Amino acid sequence: MASTRATVELIADKRRGRVLAPGEIRRLVDGYLQGQIAEAQMASWLMAVCWRGLTAAELQELTAAMAESGGRLELSGLSGPTVDKHSTGGVGDKVSLVLVPLMASLGCFVPQLSGRALGTTGGTLDKLESIPGFRCELSSSEILRVVREVGCVIAAASPELAPADRRLYALRDSTATVQSIPLIASSIVSKKVAEGVQCLLFDVKVGSGALMPDISGARRLAVTLAELASGFQIRAAAMVTAMDQPLGRAVGNALEVTEALDVLSGGGPPDLRALVLEEARELLLLSGHTADPSEALDSGAARERFNAMVRAQGGAPEAPLPLGVRLATLDAPRSGFLSRLDAGAIGLAAWRLGSGRSAPSEPVDPVAGVMCLAKQGAAVERRQPLLELWGRPGQDPGSALLALKRAVRVGSSPPPPRPVVLEHAAGD
Ligand code: URA
Repeated sequence: MASTRATVELIADKRRGRVLAPGEIRRLVDGYLQGQIAEAQMASWLMAVCWRGLTAAELQELTAAMAESGGRLELSGLSGPTVDKHSTGGVGDKVSLVLVPLMASLGCFVPQLSGRALGTTGGTLDKLESIPGFRCELSSSEILRVVREVGCVIAAASPELAPADRRLYALRDSTATVQSIPLIASSIVSKKVAEGVQCLLFDVKVGSGALMPDISGARRLAVTLAELASGFQIRAAAMVTAMDQPLGRAVGNALEVTEALDVLSGGGPPDLRALVLEEARELLLLSGHTADPSEALDSGAARERFNAMVRAQGGAPEAPLPLGVRLATLDAPRSGFLSRLDAGAIGLAAWRLGSGRSAPSEPVDPVAGVMCLAKQGAAVERRQPLLELWGRPGQDPGSALLALKRAVRVGSSPPPPRPVVLEHAAGD
């Protein structure tokens, strides 16, 4: 039976690094949602978790309480495995736009509930909304209908799924308690448990354009996510992937959709295609399904599935995407090898042009963004254009250009090659 110790004792215990008794964390979460536990008390407890961490059992209890705070998608009765992936977010990360329809074209069902941009990393929903007519805000019954009819959907999580995460995330955002591995893991996994999928792949990005700037933190988050999801009977794996430079060449909403369509048609930048294929193979392994994902890209099967998903969500896949104008270019300062193409600085430049938002209610500009004309390791000539800034006619690119100047370094020798996928981690 859960103890009835006062909330202040639970905060003090966590502050001292003690383990809470079974049931106590659930009581905290439920009490907070019901208004019996004050914002200040919850914020204090979260700060104590940032410093002291949680045991595996405490983390499981926190995640379960968050997942069970709302409803769950009812995915039973589908004729194939249900799969999804979660990326911790990066600059130019448009993998979901390709991977979701690709997996559906291979016989899996993918009900991806996704988020919007906040800060300098883009949001999958904002990217998709640059397609004329596309609707991300679907009811649970619409989500299920699209998954059944098309095999995949990418939609906003409804407020009824894991509502505890919404409340806790907003509190963490305003109390500098986002950066905690157990809090990040419980936030991500609670939403995926509510989504109800059988197989889950986590893509933990590491580098200047990522939530996790260093490899040791990224590795710990990857293992924590995979193990935590496994505790909920989800077949889970995690990868740590590079985010020191943008993924692909396009950064910005409509620019990224165009690039994703290239990959869906068998082309596109090699790093993006390689990561999509690696993630598809991992998900196939987890689901026990055998198929050739590269064939589905090259044959147009994945592209057809994308078009079907867009139509089912009200969009017009053949309509032209909004296109801005080239505002400025940044040229190579000297001849040599591109040794740095900093994802964080490029994400900041795109954000300053309007591709992202700084508050949840702000709109984003579909045409704003940055195109990378060369990637790290490329041999470049002095004055060769390296980066293009895109936006509205007459827009001043000054502050974005300032951010970009820090993004580039040209050295006299090529940097060591760095793979996109750095490490793999599996759940229990
Ligand atoms: N993404 C989430 O969904 N939650 C976090 O806490 C951090 C990143």
